[in-house]
Amino acid sequence: MHMKICKTVEQMRLASRTAHRAGKRVGFVPTMGALHEGHLSLVRAAKARSDVVAVSIFVNPTQFGPKEDLAKYPRPFERDCELLENEGVDLLFAPSAEEMYPKGAVTWVEVEGLSQKLCGRSRLGHFRGVTTVVSKLFHIIEPDLAFFGQKDAAQAAIIRRMVHDLNFPIEIVVCPIVREPDGLAMSSRNAYLSPQEHKSALVLHRTLTEIQSLFAHGERNSARLIEAGKKVLAQEPGVRLDYLGIVDPDCLEPITDLQDQALVAVAAFVGSTRLIDNLVLRAI
Ligand code: PAJ
Repeated sequence: MHMKICKTVEQMRLASRTAHRAGKRVGFVPTMGALHEGHLSLVRAAKARSDVVAVSIFVNPTQFGPKEDLAKYPRPFERDCELLENEGVDLLFAPSAEEMYPKGAVTWVEVEGLSQKLCGRSRLGHFRGVTTVVSKLFHIIEPDLAFFGQKDAAQAAIIRRMVHDLNFPIEIVVCPIVREPDGLAMSSRNAYLSPQEHKSALVLHRTLTEIQSLFAHGERNSARLIEAGKKVLAQEPGVRLDYLGIVDPDCLEPITDLQDQALVAVAAFVGSTRLIDNLVLRAI
């Protein structure tokens, strides 16, 4: 089967409604393209659980700040199409910015509170852009299931909250982080890194694993864990910390005394590239 590429909302809606009418379960993977194994792991999860897989590629302008990398964000469209085709994707939604945001649009979807946490603190308006575009994509595609990566843990928590609060009839599936063999979490933004910066960026994962190992040895005090993590990060001179937090994975509020589950999330600039990573601490 050939992958059908839909450039307009109308084409996409027709294609997914046709699938639904034939009794098929539609699984959806939203992306901004520049696809890597992280994205493809979501596609494979979607294939395993749905009859028809739809992927979107849309570099969403409303989730970028004015000083961020919207213009230079990589857009290797032909290559992305090939990768998706090889994975057996059925439908690709690849609209233009004008198609998604016709002039005069003034409506936003915002998950209050949560959208100001973690990346939302340093990237003002970012999550409002994400929840708005994901709501639009959900309305256009009307999937039964939608697949997100744990790589963007705050995004996943915010989408789960939005789907619950706004009664979207969609099951949200969150898939594990895919890493390079050296530990770096895969990201489209890794393409910005020089070989030296790539090496420096490994400190993000080292910071998280240091915290994990202290936790495994019984440390339950967040402040001390964060302090130890910051020490590891400070060893890499080219890396500037944005945040390192230990939070509840659902409400994203800081946890001081660790009990059963906590999300450790880090964001840092490596040169001018902003990278994020996280892991979940679990007392066994
Ligand atoms: P993008 O950064 O392209 O990521 C698309 C999906 O891939 C997200 O759910 C993200 O968490 C997941 N992903 C990225 N890197 C991953 C990795 N290393 N392992 C596992 N999953 C990974 O996230 C966005 O786009 C946008 O905000 C979007 C949801 C498409 C809205 O515009």
